[in-house]
Amino acid sequence: MIVKAIIIYFSKTGNTEALASLIEEVLRKKEVKTEAFSMKGDEGTFVQECFRAFLSKEVPVEIKDLETYDLIFLGSPVWAFSPVPAISSFVKHTEGWKGKKVFLFLTFGSGAGRRRAERVLSRLVEKQGGEVISVLQIKGKLMKMPERIKERVNFFIDTSLPDSK
Ligand SMILES: Cc1cc2nc3c(=O)[nH]c(=O)nc-3n(C[C@H](O)[C@H](O)[C@H](O)COP(=O)(O)O)c2cc1C
Repeated sequence: MIVKAIIIYFSKTGNTEALASLIEEVLRKKEVKTEAFSMKGDEGTFVQECFRAFLSKEVPVEIKDLETYDLIFLGSPVWAFSPVPAISSFVKHTEGWKGKKVFLFLTFGSGAGRRRAERVLSRLVEKQGGEVISVLQIKGKLMKMPERIKERVNFFIDTSLPDSK
């Protein structure tokens, strides 16, 4: 069976994007048909971005049809203890989550609020009928040393692929 995955992520300064690329590389090696999709968000000052994220402000997003994918990878930086508005808005406004296996990946700075951000995003996905089966949280700085996190990325994916058990 051909397994199809989509990686949807937002990245402002490159950390989450680097993690998305690593995930894509690992999935391709496992012969999972993979597409990556980078979300755009609106720009603002640090304070504006914090407020918008914390208040789950809605931003216009490009809608993707998720129906044809078996696995959905969803990546966000942690902003003000929250997922970024582009990713929350995407989850709220996109259909096709029902019964899908969802993998969350987050990058963070100090780590403050990263568990809250995970909870907020998990709940949004679950509300749409998706099943969060694996979560990966990586300190943004570590993305400069991808060899140090490769094992964690492998574990994140391996334990949850449909025919890996
Ligand atoms: C507006 C803003 C708010 C942030 N808030 C947090 C936070 O609450 N907790 C944390 O650990 N890191 C926080 N960070 C740091 C980012 O989560 C971290 O640098 C992340 O890896 C950035 O991802 P990116 O390079 O893909 O944009 C914040 C960064 C920005 C720009």
